[in-house]
Amino acid sequence: TLPSRVTLVEVGPRDGLQNEKQAVPAATKIELVHRLQAAGLREIEVTSFVSPKWVPQMADNAEVMAGVQRQSGVRYSVLTPNLKGWEAAALTQPDEIVVFGAASEAFSQKNINCSIAESIERFAPVVQAARAAGVKVRGAISCAVGCPYEGDIAPERVELVARLMAQIGVQHVGVADTIGVGTPRKVQRALEAALKHYPLAEVSGHFHDTYGQALSNVYASLELGISTFDTSVSGLGGCPYAKGATGNVPTEDVAYLLHGLGIDTGINLDALIDAGVFIREALGQPTGSRVARALLSK
Ligand code: HMG
Ligand code: MG
Repeated sequence: TLPSRVTLVEVGPRDGLQNEKQAVPAATKIELVHRLQAAGLREIEVTSFVSPKWVPQMADNAEVMAGVQRQSGVRYSVLTPNLKGWEAAALTQPDEIVVFGAASEAFSQKNINCSIAESIERFAPVVQAARAAGVKVRGAISCAVGCPYEGDIAPERVELVARLMAQIGVQHVGVADTIGVGTPRKVQRALEAALKHYPLAEVSGHFHDTYGQALSNVYASLELGISTFDTSVSGLGGCPYAKGATGNVPTEDVAYLLHGLGIDTGINLDALIDAGVFIREALGQPTGSRVARALLSK
């Protein structure tokens, strides 16, 4: 049986907008977060505290965090690759932080400029400091099924990173198909690898939709009992260090799938579609959500 309730972690403001070529004003990002929380999203990944030389799109991180009018019951998370990122993030009082590693050595180097082993060493003090401050720590495992530089990634590699993350106290892991190459059985093997070290409630799926497989991979994850997914409103985004990768699976499309299965998300689909229209109009782009397109043209 599938889970009766699923949590969607909205990552559009971070994973989506980090990849946007045009400058997006902080006020637009803040308004997007407001619209997302009004639509019923209860977990929002707002920004990242990374080097502005690497990702200038997120240089306004503190301004965006300060501008969000927080709603009770909503949890706000940010990415922190190292202690410098944590120290800046901590001032903005996130509910949760994300350390991000990879199952592929080459991607680890391209994305965070260090090996997998070095990344774990850098994350350890971040995890310790965050947990001491009462902030939950999530870990992202990029390239969990495939890597733009190394090709196929074996589940054992995911298991290794999940084990290392568990050892340093990371409380949740997200199994990420960074370049969207995964198909259902492969994604299930990667999730099962993470489940060797984490309980069902602490493993999530993060699927980019480059090959159009993401919704199938969500369903395959539900079959295993996974009940948390990262999704991006209107399918915003991609990864600056994974060429050609598209955005995450659109939140609207996953909400439609789940509601159709009788699974509760707490999301108001119409309000969510409005949030997607808002940001895509601000960017001058069409929506990447099939569900939004269909419902808007009715
Ligand atoms: P580095 O160059 O090795 O770092 O970068 P460093 O420690 O040698 O520092 C170099 C300079 O960066 C110094 O400044 C530091 O102060 C500064 P300088 O002295 O030259 O003026 N610096 C920072 N500034 C602000 N915030 C910080 C920070 N750290 C150092 N936290 C680093 C290492 C990790 C910083 C860099 O590689 C980086 O910022 N990478 C970011 C990569 C990124 O944001 N990728 C996208 C997010 S991950 C993702 O999208 C995948 C995910 O969605 C899952 C999936 O789909 O796979 C999560
Ligand atoms: Mg991503």
